[in-house]
Amino acid sequence: MEEILQDEVDVIVNEFTRQNEKPFNPYKTVMEATGSFIYQFCYGKGENVRNDEDFLQYIKNFSSLEEITKTGNPTDLLPWMRFLFRGKLQKFYKLISEARKYRTKKIKKLLETFDPKDMRHAVDLLMSKIIRYKLGDEPNEIGLTKNDVLGVIGDYSGAGFDPSAKAFLWLLLYVAEYPDVQRKIQEEIEEKIGNRRVTASDREQMPWTEATILESMRLAGVSPLGLPHCATEDVFVNGYMIKKGTVVIFNYYSVGHDEQWEDTFEFNPGRFLNSEGKLNKSKIESVLSFSAGRRRCPGAVLARNELFLLLASVLQKCQIRKPQQEEYDLEGIFSTTYYPKPYNICVLSREF
Ligand code: HEM
Repeated sequence: MEEILQDEVDVIVNEFTRQNEKPFNPYKTVMEATGSFIYQFCYGKGENVRNDEDFLQYIKNFSSLEEITKTGNPTDLLPWMRFLFRGKLQKFYKLISEARKYRTKKIKKLLETFDPKDMRHAVDLLMSKIIRYKLGDEPNEIGLTKNDVLGVIGDYSGAGFDPSAKAFLWLLLYVAEYPDVQRKIQEEIEEKIGNRRVTASDREQMPWTEATILESMRLAGVSPLGLPHCATEDVFVNGYMIKKGTVVIFNYYSVGHDEQWEDTFEFNPGRFLNSEGKLNKSKIESVLSFSAGRRRCPGAVLARNELFLLLASVLQKCQIRKPQQEEYDLEGIFSTTYYPKPYNICVLSREF
């Protein structure tokens, strides 16, 4: 995974520096890089993913989904309104079904060359488990079919791509808005890493970089309401009865903005560090951007490594600046994810 990410970092840095310090919107580059990362995780390391028509379509579909699922959609609250908003819903169903068709085609092709002794990607690994547990088209004793297991590719390629892209877009925005924070990350890189490749194991010795990522996730958690859940039995919470079958939505946004955080709307990575400059564990646990409990995001470790590698590697090679004359709006857009409004950055190459 690290190898794939490092290749993606090279693409990001090349695309950023190619702009010759002129203002540009990093959205497309970031979406393609994080998309390519998860795509290669699911379907195997590809030499030139960006020439794959299916991949490009997949990225495009994601941006359209984002438009359709913005908050303020009346059918979310009043489902009968779906009869009035048919066009929008049809578009939504079409995109979902195209994604499914494309995934099925891809998986079928990859399985033609499946070799149990050579695990090339997530599809192979899932297939090896399907064989091991003898899963087929009919549900087994716990109700699981082969297609349920292969469906995990759908969960991973969707949930594993968009939130990471949005989290990295927030980070780029914050380091451009707060040059002092950026400078401190670069000092940490110079002191602990120098010119060599950044690796995930560097996370341990880079508390300021880690604190910046945590602060960005606290203030601009990309999944503010997580996924809808459902009470499986009657339960009392703080004296309130929640009836079996009730849809339950967690408000992670409110956790990140609770008064327990001093100056809660300020961007201050230092709040995660103790007096010795080390990360404060209990504060980290109070950031619930990956949710908690059994349905916590299964990609959290991967995502944290991904964000660290992207941020540290890009700042090792690039200086990110806010363009003169541009004011950033740090309020984001609520959709399936919470993401920043379009913004531009200027990028200067760094040599040290
Ligand atoms: C910054 C990046 C990410 C954030 C903030 C994030 C956050 C979340 C949150 C809040 C949930 C919902 C938990 C709930 O309310 O039930 C979730 C679910 C999920 N995430 Fe992530 N995620 C990220 C990256 C990833 C990655 C990289 C992967 C996989 C490679 C991934 C895979 C999933 C899956 C499969 C689910 C559904 C789990 C279930 O239904 O139990 N996520 N994520």
